Amino acid sequence: MRDILVAGNWKMNGSSAANAELVAGIVAGVPEGDGFSLLVCPPFPYLASVAAGVAGSAVRLGAQNVSEHEAGAYTGEVAAGMLRDVGCEYVIVGHSERRALYGESSGRVAEKFAAAQAAGLLPILCVGETLAEREAGTTERVIDEQLDAVLGLVGIAALASAVIAYEPVWAIGTGKTASPEQAQDVHRHIRERLARADAEVAAGIQILYGGSMKGENAAGLLAMQDIDGGLIGGASLKAKDFLAIAEAASRANKTG
Ligand code: 13P
Repeated sequence: MRDILVAGNWKMNGSSAANAELVAGIVAGVPEGDGFSLLVCPPFPYLASVAAGVAGSAVRLGAQNVSEHEAGAYTGEVAAGMLRDVGCEYVIVGHSERRALYGESSGRVAEKFAAAQAAGLLPILCVGETLAEREAGTTERVIDEQLDAVLGLVGIAALASAVIAYEPVWAIGTGKTASPEQAQDVHRHIRERLARADAEVAAGIQILYGGSMKGENAAGLLAMQDIDGGLIGGASLKAKDFLAIAEAASRANKTG
């Protein structure tokens, strides 16, 4: 069965001092047990120092964005090879904030996904609908378009080395969590869609939920069959809050 991944997306938050405290708190409090792993995704300038802070611990490192290009005249961009070079194993691609605020199309997200894999990173592909799209009944269509752009470029086999995060836009930073059943419905849909292309890849891929996940609601979400972890924003910024979700993951024990 699938391990649980508890991933913190720090977004544009932190400072050297705050990160040192946060990382030390997380590393000191990693729950006992197996079947789950923890990941932190700090802003670019802090990747190297956080890499040092998590070295030797069970906490992995990821970035929040990556260029679709390998190198060259792309001022302000960061290449996947650079992220590998400073110790990242993962990178988030296609977060809804990047799609909405920075105009990232599904096509560009797919190119970022491919660039990440070419450098040996595991992409965490974010998909999700807005409130208007949900109310219009187009949730599945929106998610299919986001998934299909990646499948069309890299093919289903590439999904064997990737993670998907379902993040309903209306649940991000709003305090409104999707109910476990609402999230499960979409997670199942994603897995079934992938299964049409390759049942083995679909069965193995981790599908995380993101959107106001916290210690109090994590257990209920993680108990659902197709929810394999969380991509956590606000609650990843305090060690105690992040570790409460990690504790729920350690108890969910889906591998047992
Ligand atoms: P919140 O947990 O703050 O709702 O953010 C979710 C998210 O966007 C993680 O990528």
